[in-house]
Parts: sequence; structure tokens; C-alpha cells
Amino acid sequence: MLQLQNLYKIYKEGDIETVALREARLTVQPGEFVAITGRSGAGKSTLLSLIGGLATPNAGRVVIDGTDIARLSEGERAAFRREQIGIVYQADNLISFLTAQENVMAPLQLARRKDARRRAQELLAEVGLAQRMQHRPAMLSGGERQRVAIAVALANEPALLLADELTGELDSATADKVMALLATLNASHKLTLVVVTHNKLVAARAHRQVLIADGQLFEQAAAHG
Ligand SMILES: Nc1ncnc2c1ncn2[C@@H]1O[C@H](COP(=O)(O)OP(=O)(O)O)[C@@H](O)[C@H]1O
Ligand SMILES: [Mg+2]
Repeated sequence: MLQLQNLYKIYKEGDIETVALREARLTVQPGEFVAITGRSGAGKSTLLSLIGGLATPNAGRVVIDGTDIARLSEGERAAFRREQIGIVYQADNLISFLTAQENVMAPLQLARRKDARRRAQELLAEVGLAQRMQHRPAMLSGGERQRVAIAVALANEPALLLADELTGELDSATADKVMALLATLNASHKLTLVVVTHNKLVAARAHRQVLIADGQLFEQAAAHG
């Protein structure tokens, strides 16, 4: 599904170079749920932006379903991202003046889907928001907003869902409910899931944990018992 090969990402600001990723390697199987953990500044968001095709590496390959997305043109990469990848961030995923339903409909309409309204309603019901479809983001709780964001990200049936600290602004009980929802979607849709977090409880929901430290990835041994 996903293969990262010897990825390097170097940020240059004037004379200062920051090596955010070095020799990063990772293989994720279809349907797997992987958590990438690490401290602030370790390179988590950088890694996710490369997997999501929002940035390109200085060296190495990002292979998704056989395509090295680092070798695509900007336009091709944008199209690939629209069709194959869903992304949810910590906050501000939604368009503030649209209702929950309209937010989910937006990517469906962009993809010219005729069943946009019905599909948006189904997705919102699936994330437990059948009673909140006509609410705008400001009228929803933080957990509800993140559920809407997950529905938006799933609208065009991506094979790969990426999440960057998606529970970072939620209290721990709400965060765990959002993670339980992701685990359910991972199982029911055979969705491949890569979640970046500094929260150990969030990471514990994943099948597999990978630690990132100083831009390098390390497989974590599975917990016993
Ligand atoms: N656009 C950027 N320009 C310069 N340095 C950056 C940029 N984005 C991130 N960095 C640096 O790269 C390193 C990794 O950052 P990041 O991927 O955001 O880590 P994390 O998400 O784990 O907190 C940090 O040292 C950060 O300061
Ligand atoms: Mg980050």
C-alpha cells in the first residue's frame, strides 16, 4: 500500500538547514492501522505531508499503490491526493460558513458525484452525527467537528487516511471515542490508516507503532499480552 524509501527532507532558511527526515523507511500493508509517535519537532508533520503529497522529499521515494508520488507533476500529485488520500488535521478542517452536510458534500460535488447529498448524509450517520447535519462548525463540539472532518476525508473513498494530531485539541475521553471511530472505520472499510500523534493512549489504538526521533523511524516492539 505505502512504501517510504530512504526519505530525506531538509528545510533551508537562509544559512540554517534543518534535516527534518533522514533515511526514513516504512512499509504499511493495505488495511493496516499505524501510529507514528514522537516528540514535538521530531518530524511527524513533515512525514505526513510527504505521504499526503503536500510536499516533496529532497531524496527518496514515496510509493503509494505502486506510484512514486514524489515523481509526479504538481497537477498529477494534486489529482492523486484528491482521489486516493484523505487527510484530517488537529483543527480547522471545515469550512466555517457551511453546514456539516455541506462540508461533506463539497468534495463529492468537486468529484461531480450525483449522489452527493445522499452520500453525505450516509457518511454523517456513520460517524454518529445524523442529528447534527444542518449545524455549522461553530455550533458543534470539538469531537463532533473532528467526526465531520473524518466524514469529509472519507467522502471520495480514499484507500489511505492520514491524520495529524487529530485529537490534539480534545479531552481524553472524547479523543478516545474519535480513535474508536477510526478503528471501526479501519475495520469496516479496510481503510489503511496512518495516524501521527504524541499521545500514547491514541497510539495504543493502532495495530503497530513507529517512533520517529531526529527524523528517523524506528519500529516499536509489539506490547506483550
Ligand atoms: N516549513 C519549515 N521550514 C523550516 N523548518 C521547518 C518547517 N517545517 C518544519 N520544520 C522543522 O523541521 C523539524 C520537524 O518539524 P515537524 O515535522 O513539524 O515536527 P512534528 O510534527 O513532529 O512536531 C522541526 O525542527 C521544525 O522546526
Ligand atoms: Mg506536527
